[in-house]
Amino acid sequence: MTALLRAVESPLVPAGFTVKPHAVSPRLQVVTLSSEVIHGFAEAMAEWPVQALEYKPFLRYATADKLDVLTENTLGRYLNAIMQNRETAAFLLQYEGEPDIEAGELRTEFEVKLSTAISHLIGMPNHDSMYGKYYARFTVLNEDNSDSYLRQAHRRMELHTDGTYVNERTDFVLMQKLGEAHMEGGASLLLHLDDWADLEKFYNHPLAKKDLVWGAPKSKNVGSKITHPIFFEEDKNGKPHMSFIDQFVEPQNMSEGLYLYQMGESIEADPNYIAVPLPVGSMLVVQNHCWLHGRDKFTAHPQLSRELLRQRGHFTR
Ligand SMILES: [Fe+2]
Repeated sequence: MTALLRAVESPLVPAGFTVKPHAVSPRLQVVTLSSEVIHGFAEAMAEWPVQALEYKPFLRYATADKLDVLTENTLGRYLNAIMQNRETAAFLLQYEGEPDIEAGELRTEFEVKLSTAISHLIGMPNHDSMYGKYYARFTVLNEDNSDSYLRQAHRRMELHTDGTYVNERTDFVLMQKLGEAHMEGGASLLLHLDDWADLEKFYNHPLAKKDLVWGAPKSKNVGSKITHPIFFEEDKNGKPHMSFIDQFVEPQNMSEGLYLYQMGESIEADPNYIAVPLPVGSMLVVQNHCWLHGRDKFTAHPQLSRELLRQRGHFTR
């Protein structure tokens, strides 16, 4: 445990927030902003509607700065230390108390501002082609007829990384819960690469570094295909970074097909994953190339609904 958190245990002292390991895994850090910081942030951001952040990209950094200043510039340093340490590289961010903003669209705007601040403290979100903005909001309902498993409630969404079919780097994924009703189940599932029992077997395989073809279903609005290997690079300590999703990789022959099939089976059968419930108003941020993420199935309910926001981006420091 001490070794796991070496980067976090530097002399840096959090001001206006706490950090502690999550009950389900010492890797996952729970960052809790104080009620005072949340009130201060809501007040400081009252002048800018989310539309202003959408129209003027520099305001997103100013937003991040407003939050960081409220923590005496310790939050950004802390979050970066967590994300740059492979042993942790993930946090659940939540806050105490409630901002003085009524439930509804204004309150949702507040949540969007908060996740904008967090993403810009660690990097820069990529343009989300599905939604046409630097973030995407989407709803999971009981019925769905979309062309990928993203919005389908009644099945487990397999463990994967994001950004497999785009050329930009996708160093981090931020998943925020904006609201939900009649939900049972549906926890976020996470598996750290170093906890995957078969990592060495697949990393040392002859196809581990071979270029594979990656495409995307129509709803993603990404027309062209790209190629890259599953294990596309190593981190600063020589450990593998992975880019994998079962639905969007297009094997071109039997050996590629079977390598991928066996990889998918191994990942889904690995018992070392963690299941993390995501309360409304909280967000989960993971380093996308050493954590696989997915979602457990929900229990059917005719009025089931869940609104999520995601940001996917690259590190800038
Ligand atoms: Fe994903």
